[in-house]
Amino acid sequence: MPYARELRFVYRNPTRVVFGEGSVEGVALEVGSLGGTRALVVTDEGLTKTDLPERIKSALGDKCVGVFGEVKPDSGFDVVQRGVEVAQELGADILVSVGGGSSMDTAKAMSIVIKGGGKLSDYVGAPIGGPPVPHIAIPTTSGTGSECTQIAVVKDDEREVKQIFLNDYLFPKLAILDPQMAAGMSPILTASTGMDAMTHAVEGVASVLREPIADALNLHAIRLIVEYLPQCVEKGDDLLARGQQMIAAALAGIGFANSLLGIVHSMAHIVGAKHGVPHGIANGILLPHGMRYNLEACPDRYALVAEAMGVKEKGMNAKEAATAAINAMNDFLKRIAHPQRLRDVGVPAEALEDCAAATLGELSIFTNPRPGDPNEVLKMFQEAW
Ligand SMILES: [Fe+2]
Repeated sequence: MPYARELRFVYRNPTRVVFGEGSVEGVALEVGSLGGTRALVVTDEGLTKTDLPERIKSALGDKCVGVFGEVKPDSGFDVVQRGVEVAQELGADILVSVGGGSSMDTAKAMSIVIKGGGKLSDYVGAPIGGPPVPHIAIPTTSGTGSECTQIAVVKDDEREVKQIFLNDYLFPKLAILDPQMAAGMSPILTASTGMDAMTHAVEGVASVLREPIADALNLHAIRLIVEYLPQCVEKGDDLLARGQQMIAAALAGIGFANSLLGIVHSMAHIVGAKHGVPHGIANGILLPHGMRYNLEACPDRYALVAEAMGVKEKGMNAKEAATAAINAMNDFLKRIAHPQRLRDVGVPAEALEDCAAATLGELSIFTNPRPGDPNEVLKMFQEAW
């Protein structure tokens, strides 16, 4: 794993992490320790039909001023604006997001606008200006890692793009990882969000911004995912497995907060924004294709992935080990019953050219170890279709 002597990096990890079954019960104390007195719970429409938001509301007690439950999958600018209005009406001084990436990213975007005023579109490509409203993230899925990142992805419905906000102010102050919060996920949501975490880790290891601390986080995330994600899919109430997968997602989150990502995320953001493919599913389908695309550019990095997956055999050279990692990734997708073709998740064949063209301008591609080649990217989409 050669690192250059010229290596320079800044490592970021400002989010405090609390882990354990039942740890959400301490959320009121945590709000108090952050100086909050009026917490708004931000959650998604699906979760409002479960008892999870209510559980957080009751744990918050008189520190809770309300629940904003209008977040949708791939939440957009309009939902953020509505959330800001609710927070301002209720005088919220701290946000507690409960849910997957959409809830956490919506809360991050809301925190900017509540503090800085205006609309979210004012902050596209512009500075945030100062610390936003504090945010506590309580994930109920185990993939996005958003609970430990400075990144928010929000859909700009008018332009059909996923807008990426990347700023150190967006790190949540605290992530509460309570395995009980993830126990209700369906097998397909478990598998697909788990593959989002796997993709963060693999793309982080291969990224041009890779460095030893992020490597350590990303590679251990891969080990945990290989061991525990299948158990989570097969037996959703296995809280040991749920907890370890939740930690893996956070590890990969901290990892890619530092190393950033690669071409698989670029492609996934495009098929997500244009064709509504859920983020984890898009990543899972595209990951082995992206690894094959990058194979010649970073065989030594994928050899590390092979080692973490337990498929690097003695005597293998880097390219052989990297190939073993790609094959193992395909087998892993089958083992967790993950979709394997874009055609099965609503992407029409005639859309592939547009998707390939849009991928070349997407942010994550700029940290991919191999530059975007227009013909090869289209070929990748065709092979994944
Ligand atoms: Fe992701």
